[in-house]
Amino acid sequence: MPAAEPAAEPSPTGTTPSFPVRAAVVGTGGIVTGSHLPALRGMGDRVRLVAAVDTDPARLAAFRDRAGEDVTGYGGLDEMLAAERPGLVLLGTPPALHAEQTRAALRAGAWVLCEKPLCLSLAEYDTIAAAEGTEEGGPGGPYASVVFQHRYGSGAVHARELLRSGELGRPLVAHCQTTWYRDRAYYSVPWRGRWATEGGGPTMGHGIHQMDLLLHLLGEWEEVRAMAGRLVHDVESEDVSTALVRFADGTMATVVNSVLSPDEVSRIRIDCAHATVELTHLYGHANDDWAYTPAVHRRDDARTAHWRSPAADVPSSHAAQLDGFLDAMAKGVRPPGSGVAARRTLEFLAALYKSAFTGQPVRAGEIGPEDPYYHAMHGNHPDWAPKEQ
Ligand SMILES: NC(=O)c1ccc[n+]([C@@H]2O[C@H](COP(=O)([O-])OP(=O)(O)OC[C@H]3O[C@@H](n4cnc5c(N)ncnc54)[C@H](O)[C@@H]3O)[C@@H](O)[C@H]2O)c1
Repeated sequence: MPAAEPAAEPSPTGTTPSFPVRAAVVGTGGIVTGSHLPALRGMGDRVRLVAAVDTDPARLAAFRDRAGEDVTGYGGLDEMLAAERPGLVLLGTPPALHAEQTRAALRAGAWVLCEKPLCLSLAEYDTIAAAEGTEEGGPGGPYASVVFQHRYGSGAVHARELLRSGELGRPLVAHCQTTWYRDRAYYSVPWRGRWATEGGGPTMGHGIHQMDLLLHLLGEWEEVRAMAGRLVHDVESEDVSTALVRFADGTMATVVNSVLSPDEVSRIRIDCAHATVELTHLYGHANDDWAYTPAVHRRDDARTAHWRSPAADVPSSHAAQLDGFLDAMAKGVRPPGSGVAARRTLEFLAALYKSAFTGQPVRAGEIGPEDPYYHAMHGNHPDWAPKEQ
């Protein structure tokens, strides 16, 4: 049975931001322009974009042309934080910058919604957690969440409710597939395919969404056995990984993450005792992308009609996540996609890499500060860690 999200407890040290929330974006490239800006615009008068930061003046200017002249531009995060004191910072910079920028924004009192991956290691995650507000009584925060927009579409919310309620019967077998295609030109960008700058290959950068959704749907994982390969691209990290997973309730799953697959698809399939639920999409899902197939003994039209009819029709999107994030800010409670929910997915990725590189099964909870895989996803493994220059 899926585990509950962490309790939404307020803290004595936090402050509940005033509304409309004054927001700033950091890194005005593809994801901020294409996804965060429309999401902010969709929130009406709950949030106002007041500042944008980019070290590239041309990108910043292009963004401000789109966002509006009343968005003040800055060349650096610290300068912006000092001048604007925003209530919310949305981070869309390259992955290696996320941990430090998240901590800086938290220290300045801002809540943070950061692009995936939130950081490059469990060690980095734990420093972010230490910079958050405490969770003991009173209005809480600031908190840092990671963007995993696929959790928040109505199809995923509905499927999770059905799984949690036992309506589909006990989950038994699952498949989690991110088989995408990236060409040589994609990897000619210097920060891609490197541990220090991208954090990993399709495990960390692409399949992370689907694996996060699998864990969100199924709950606590217990053990992973994995393989990784560098089959095509001239990169430091892997370009394909596979894994077998056992969940705490006994559910067994397969995982595939690839950037080598000409026929691209993102898929999750969960076979439960009474029905199979299957999601098939590429970069985002809507209700129609979810299919429910009842077991023969369960062919009850009323029940299956209920499975196939989520109460809402909200596609997975940055807007769907931001909506819930602002609700949490208004209440001064821990937002979805933060704390335990963020760390569990990162720990799963660290365990997948450790198992792939050591050839050993890895159990949840075993990667602690004394373990090299706590500090880097490559775990300093001689076949995988970057060579000393
Ligand atoms: N959630 C999703 O589905 C999704 C999709 C694509 C990318 N992403 C993530 O979004 C992040 C950004 O990806 P992108 O494709 O938008 O990259 P991008 O290269 O298009 O944009 C990054 C921007 O950050 C700026 N930047 C670099 N250093 C900076 C600094 N120190 N301070 C401020 N700005 C700085 C760059 O000039 C650039 O404009 C990555 O972490 C990526 O994994 C998420």
